Amino acid sequence: MAIEDNIDVIINRTEYGGSIPVDNVQALASKDLKDVPVRYIRPDIEAEEVLADDLFQIPVIDLSKLNDAGQPGYDDELVKLHIACRDWGFFQLINHRVSETIDAMNKVTEEFFNLPLEEKMKCAQLPNNIKGYGQAFVVSDEQKLNWGDMFFLLPLPISLRHLRFWPQNPNSFRKTLEKYSKTLHGVSMQLFKLISINLGIEPEAIGKMFENCTQGIRMNYYPPCPEARKVLGLAPHSDATGLTLLVQVNEVQGLQIKKNSKWVPIKPIPGSIIVNVGDVLEILSNGEYNSIEHRAIVDFEKERLSIAAFHSPGLGAMIGPLPELVKEKTHKYKTIDVQYYLKLIINSKLDGKCLIDHMKIQ
Ligand code: OGA
Ligand code: NI
Repeated sequence: MAIEDNIDVIINRTEYGGSIPVDNVQALASKDLKDVPVRYIRPDIEAEEVLADDLFQIPVIDLSKLNDAGQPGYDDELVKLHIACRDWGFFQLINHRVSETIDAMNKVTEEFFNLPLEEKMKCAQLPNNIKGYGQAFVVSDEQKLNWGDMFFLLPLPISLRHLRFWPQNPNSFRKTLEKYSKTLHGVSMQLFKLISINLGIEPEAIGKMFENCTQGIRMNYYPPCPEARKVLGLAPHSDATGLTLLVQVNEVQGLQIKKNSKWVPIKPIPGSIIVNVGDVLEILSNGEYNSIEHRAIVDFEKERLSIAAFHSPGLGAMIGPLPELVKEKTHKYKTIDVQYYLKLIINSKLDGKCLIDHMKIQ
């Protein structure tokens, strides 16, 4: 079987599971509930510490300073990027010059979620398939549910797009997503190059694994919740990707990252892209960079929307520490092929860094 067909099987066929269908949260939230159904209530979260210090923020990286090795500020910014990846696993990217594409995507995303439920359901997930409109990571009837809906598409590789899940309403959606996919892949390729330089390996070393990348785009919709402090929009997890590029669609904040065992709320700079190191980059770098746990909280009164673009290695790649980076050091992670890795992702419940724990050599 061709490798692409194989991935298609993993992602789309029943034998590899998917998510158990659950209620649409946007519809539930519109019912003016006084009490939120118990499956959404997480008794433990109120006890978890959230840092209140507004000044404690993730690094900000100015991409306009990183175009040419000779330009003023390049070296300093490169060092900042290295520290951001190593000590935070998260940073905000500014002056990226892709604002127009982002604004257009934000607009069609809002329009999509504002459509009547029946209209959105034209793109609904099919049983045991992760693509489409619905929820993900529900693997048992007992587990707690996220206070949010998501719309997941796989724009890359192009051969796996499955346009039946791509909405025709709003009518500019497909064209806009296509542009967004290409543009964000471009930004991630630029970052992979800078990261390779920072790790002291060939500038193309990481990028070549992501040239034919598998790119997932997840549009998240978190409705307001009358018990906002007792639910989560998205449970704690690390992203099982190389790099994730996240944008906030509206002004409502909600992303929090785990730092020194506390939750740190992220204050997005308007127009910035929030970038995070995913599990795959942690593994490739043999632990030099860290994939950080994060979660999304919701608001009492306002809806929140975000769009995450996940970049995973191309089909056929092996995921493991880069040989150039281990040499005489010990391998901290196993090496497995992408297909097996995807299978692990698709069948897991979101649960902290459990995926990477599978990959660690104890
Ligand atoms: C994600 C994610 C955070 C957010 O989609 O993986 O972490 O703020 N989203 O929506
Ligand atoms: Ni995430």
